[in-house]
Amino acid sequence: MNILTTPAENVPGNRIIAAGYINTQQLWICELYHAGIRVQICNYGATIMSVILPDRNGVPLNIVAGFSLPQHYLGVHPYFGSTVGRFANRIANARFEIDGKVYQLSANEPPNHLHGGVQGLDKKVWRIESRYADADRTAITLGYDSPDGEEGYPGNVNLSVTYTLTANKELQVSYTAVTDKSTILNLTNHSYFNLSGFSSDTIAGHTLQVLAEAYAAKEAGGIPTGEILPVAGTSLDFRQPRIIGEVLGDFPADRGLDHYWLLQGAAGELLPMATLADASSGICMQVHTNQPGCQIYTANFWDGTITGEQGVRYNKHGAIAIETQNIPDAPNHAHFPSALLEPGDVYSAVTSFRFSYL
Ligand code: GLA
Repeated sequence: MNILTTPAENVPGNRIIAAGYINTQQLWICELYHAGIRVQICNYGATIMSVILPDRNGVPLNIVAGFSLPQHYLGVHPYFGSTVGRFANRIANARFEIDGKVYQLSANEPPNHLHGGVQGLDKKVWRIESRYADADRTAITLGYDSPDGEEGYPGNVNLSVTYTLTANKELQVSYTAVTDKSTILNLTNHSYFNLSGFSSDTIAGHTLQVLAEAYAAKEAGGIPTGEILPVAGTSLDFRQPRIIGEVLGDFPADRGLDHYWLLQGAAGELLPMATLADASSGICMQVHTNQPGCQIYTANFWDGTITGEQGVRYNKHGAIAIETQNIPDAPNHAHFPSALLEPGDVYSAVTSFRFSYL
C-alpha cells in the first residue's frame, strides 16, 4: 500500500485498515482524514505511523518517522511515533518512593529507567475504545489496562489515548488515566518530525521557537540535577525562532539537542510551547500543551541503519521529537511538578500539533 497515493479526503472521517496478527492479537491501522491531512494510527504502541499533508505546492508529504506496516514496529527502533510511559524519559537509578515505600523499576538503560521500561506502553497492543466523526472532527480512542507491578510500577492503571483531527488542521493527542493505588504517571508521544517529508535528511535547516525561559539542568546520563536554570545567554535560548543547526554542535556529549524546557504559565492550561517550520516545504507546526514543558531530541543517535516509510535512511539529526511531558525524574525531585496519580484522580494530558504554512 502506498499511503501517499490514497486520495485526500476533505470530509472528516476514519477507517480501519486490518493489517495482520501478533500471536492471537490483531494489529491494525486506523486512518483519520480531515482538512487535507491524513494520520495513520496503529494499535501496537498506540503509535502515530504517519502524518501526511500537502506541502505549499500541494505535494503530499509524510512528515513523521515510521514504517509502512504495523509489523515493522515490533523490531528495534527509537520510539517512532510511540505512546511512551508509564513514565516518559528517565528515572534515576530506576527507583522512586511513594509515602516511604521504595519502588524498583526495570533498569532498561542501566542504572536508569527510560521511557517506561523494557516492555513499555510503546510495546503493548492497545484496543479500540471508540471512533468518532462529525462535521468538525474525527477521532479514535485506544485503551490499555496496565496491571499492578508492570515494569515495577504500582497500581492497576486504565489508560486511554484519543487522537483527534480537527477542521483547523490540528492533531490533538489527549491522554486520560485512573489508578487503584498511588502511582506515578507521565505520558507522551514520541513522534519525530521532519517537515520536509525527509526530502532533506537533516532538520538542521528547520526553524525552532520554544516559549520557555528555563530548562532543567542535567548530568551525564540525562538525569536532571534538580536545578532549573534560565535559557538566557545559553544555546538553549530559543525564545526567538532560530535555525536549529546553529546549536547542534554545542552539545558534544548529547550529539545535539536532548533537553527539557519548562513552560511558564498555569499548569494544566493548554499553552503554546513550540513552533517548528521548514522553509523548503513551507510547513509550520505549532505545539500546544497542558504539560509543564517538553523534552526536545534531535535524533542524535540515528545512524542510517533504519530505512523508513519515505524510502530514505534515517540519519543523524534526521528529525526532531518534541515530547510534551512532566520533567524527567520528577518523582525524585520534590520541587518538580508532582507526577503522582492517586486513586480517585483522573490524569489528563493534552497536546496539539497545529499545521499551517509559512
Ligand atoms: C528521548 C530521550 C533521549 C532518547 C530518545 C529515544 O528523547 O531524551 O535521550 O532516549 O528519547 O531514543
